[in-house]
Amino acid sequence: MTPPCLFKKERCNRMISEKLQKARDYVAEQGAHIPPENYPLFHVTPVVGWLNDPNGFSVYKGEYHIFYQYHPYGLQWGPMHWGHSKSRDFVRWERLPVSLAPDEDYDHNGCFSGSAAELPDGRHLLMYTAGKIISQEDGTPKKLQIQCLAIGDGVDYEKFSGNPVMDGSVLPPEGIDLDFRDPKIWLEGDIWYAVIVNRIRDETAGCNTGAVLLYSSANLEDWELAGQLDCSHNEYGKMWECPDFFQLDGKQVLLVSPQEMETKDPALHEGHVALCLLGDWDGKTFTRRSVQPVDQGLDFYAPQTLLTPDGRRIMIGWMQSEFTKYVPDGSQWFGMFSLPRELRIQDGRLIQSPVRELENYRKEQTVYQNVRISAPLSLPGICGRTLELNLTVRPVEGETYDNFILKFAQNSRYFTSLTFDPIRNVLVLDRSQSGFPRGIKTPNGYPAGVIHQRTVPLLEERDELRLRVLLDRYSAEIYVNGGEQVLTVTFYTPQTADGIIFDSEGTASLDVEQYRLEI
Ligand code: FRU
Repeated sequence: MTPPCLFKKERCNRMISEKLQKARDYVAEQGAHIPPENYPLFHVTPVVGWLNDPNGFSVYKGEYHIFYQYHPYGLQWGPMHWGHSKSRDFVRWERLPVSLAPDEDYDHNGCFSGSAAELPDGRHLLMYTAGKIISQEDGTPKKLQIQCLAIGDGVDYEKFSGNPVMDGSVLPPEGIDLDFRDPKIWLEGDIWYAVIVNRIRDETAGCNTGAVLLYSSANLEDWELAGQLDCSHNEYGKMWECPDFFQLDGKQVLLVSPQEMETKDPALHEGHVALCLLGDWDGKTFTRRSVQPVDQGLDFYAPQTLLTPDGRRIMIGWMQSEFTKYVPDGSQWFGMFSLPRELRIQDGRLIQSPVRELENYRKEQTVYQNVRISAPLSLPGICGRTLELNLTVRPVEGETYDNFILKFAQNSRYFTSLTFDPIRNVLVLDRSQSGFPRGIKTPNGYPAGVIHQRTVPLLEERDELRLRVLLDRYSAEIYVNGGEQVLTVTFYTPQTADGIIFDSEGTASLDVEQYRLEI
């Protein structure tokens, strides 16, 4: 049988280019003196510079690797490199040298998003989108997106001499070669598959729109179009980015990140979002049955998953999104990943929970039960910026309450809040008091103010509201009612803003369990 990987070592360019070495040296030099307290405790960040999408989230030689879209030299998107970290447990991350630089003719406009897999021969494969600018016949430039490979040992990666392995020639007739990116690769039996997003000419929508294409290959070099899995028809955003496609609990999941989504559906929000398309897959056709938000907070985009050796589907996302982006003054790094989350499907719904490995870092438990809240209250020992907080809110017998309010990262000047309105059955997440100037432009110059608030309808009416809040210096991830909804928010206030306040209009009863998190 032909092995699925036909690469020979000599077909890779083994040199570390000047551009890559420069990035590695710059990062080592600039990052050397930044104290660890300037970073989150257990979330992936670059040591300096800009990070966007997670790339190459994979298991390699028993360790979890994550790469990222990386511009080392600034706090804004720029010539894309791939940064790199690894972990044994998704919580404690070790930074590794920059793995890819845009140093070839075919990727000089950037090494964009992609994925990774362990090859059967023990090497680590990266598949990424290369940005290439060509000059057209009339002299005007055209930005192409093509797919490339690199192979490595978990630290150093060599670009394949046969790059690119996919260009516009593998697109369907309606495909547009300017937007063809973000391959997510996997091996099934001895066939390789990749899902890739493409902007297509869409007759149904009467304009161009985002779609996900499926490709297959027996040797990683020659790829064939196997079909279109799904298409936005501009109902769920204009272009789609960063797809993932996998089976979970008997259902088929297609993750996509739509750009500029406009929607009247109160369960979804507008802008750049992440969606879970749940459906059936017969090996040829994906039939979408439902569309669900992945995260209903302010900051979550471009998630990617891996399958652990013990069979868990784990997702990690960029804790940011185009219209919620604000780079604080004086920071040396920008961009964090979410805590990896375990995914499952229950009753047709995507359920997320923080990776169970985080529980190994729980320290010092503080518990309160049946606390009556009817005015602002802080509880002794309940405070901090690196902790897990488990809350259950319920009405006091015979009484009703209007709003339950949780304020965290709080001091006399700042706070971020989550309000539960049991009458409307909504949560309101608000970080407008977290030091963000109003109405600023995003660093890429998008003509949008930074968004600070979201109102999220709860899926069910329940007697109790259960919240699991993970705080890590600059972010909170809030799992609602066992993870059937999740809200993620970033904020860059001083760490001295570490208060936690509970409040209610009318009397509510509250159970609190807090663990300090230390690694
Ligand atoms: C998503 C994205 C990807 C692209 C990458 C470039 O945020 O636009 O589609 O590959 O970022 O950095």
